[in-house]
Amino acid sequence: KVPQSPTFLKTRTAHEVLETLNWAQVTSDFVIVTLAAGMGKTMACRHYCATRPHAYLATVSPHTKNVHAMLIELAAELNVQEHNPARLTRAIGKKLERIGGGTLLIIDEAQNLVDDAINQLRHFVDIYGCGVALVGNDEVYGRFASKSEGRSYAQLRRRIGKRLNRRQPLRQDLEAFIDAWGVTDPVAVKTLIGMGLKGGALGQIDKTLKLAAMLAMANDEPINARHVETAWKNRDVEDIA
Ligand SMILES: Nc1ncnc2c1ncn2[C@@H]1O[C@H](COP(=O)(O)OP(=O)(O)OP(=O)(O)O)[C@@H](O)[C@H]1O
Ligand SMILES: [Mg+2]
Repeated sequence: KVPQSPTFLKTRTAHEVLETLNWAQVTSDFVIVTLAAGMGKTMACRHYCATRPHAYLATVSPHTKNVHAMLIELAAELNVQEHNPARLTRAIGKKLERIGGGTLLIIDEAQNLVDDAINQLRHFVDIYGCGVALVGNDEVYGRFASKSEGRSYAQLRRRIGKRLNRRQPLRQDLEAFIDAWGVTDPVAVKTLIGMGLKGGALGQIDKTLKLAAMLAMANDEPINARHVETAWKNRDVEDIA
């Protein structure tokens, strides 16, 4: 038996992500969500798309960072069948065109995108009236701040309607997550919070607790500080966390 991670929790941070995505969808705006690793970006985006109509999530990678590769990825995600590259942008745009309470395109791991690809997304917002959310680590926003020169940056910058940025996880989020895992031993809780604050946030705690929960199950005990310590040592990620 493998221990189960908690299902989606509406932590404070998750709530703020959902609100920001909703803003983008309802007002057809361009928003940026940058949170440190493991703080729950992907999970909140998936939850949003699973619970709202006309919201789509695409994840870009180093392999799909260019305009064309990104469009192919979007076409697949949006179920757009268009094999003529010249008509691809329009076909995707039509699918994203604002309807009812708005449409939303969320791009996860957006730090991978090249500038031209981001400009292409701006075009969707301008022409088709959809909302776009760029989600990723703070490199996503860094490019707007650091490369202050250039007309295209000015065009992009003025379209950013809202930004949610957090580099450090909130203690209350970590506590809620640990509580959902059913850990009550105060020493274990304290150790786990320390791990989450060091980097990797909920993701780091989750990986440790999966292993700790296995150890606890094997001994037919509730998760305690010893299981957590052993799991952490066993994972051997201290120096890279
Ligand atoms: N709202 C939540 N409710 C329950 N669990 C969560 C929540 N957010 C995050 N988690 C847990 O933390 C893990 C990491 O979350 P997630 O993958 O969403 O982080 P991320 O911010 O996208 O990280 P990365 O920057 O590495 O992509 C998840 O696998 C899940 O176990
Ligand atoms: Mg993610």
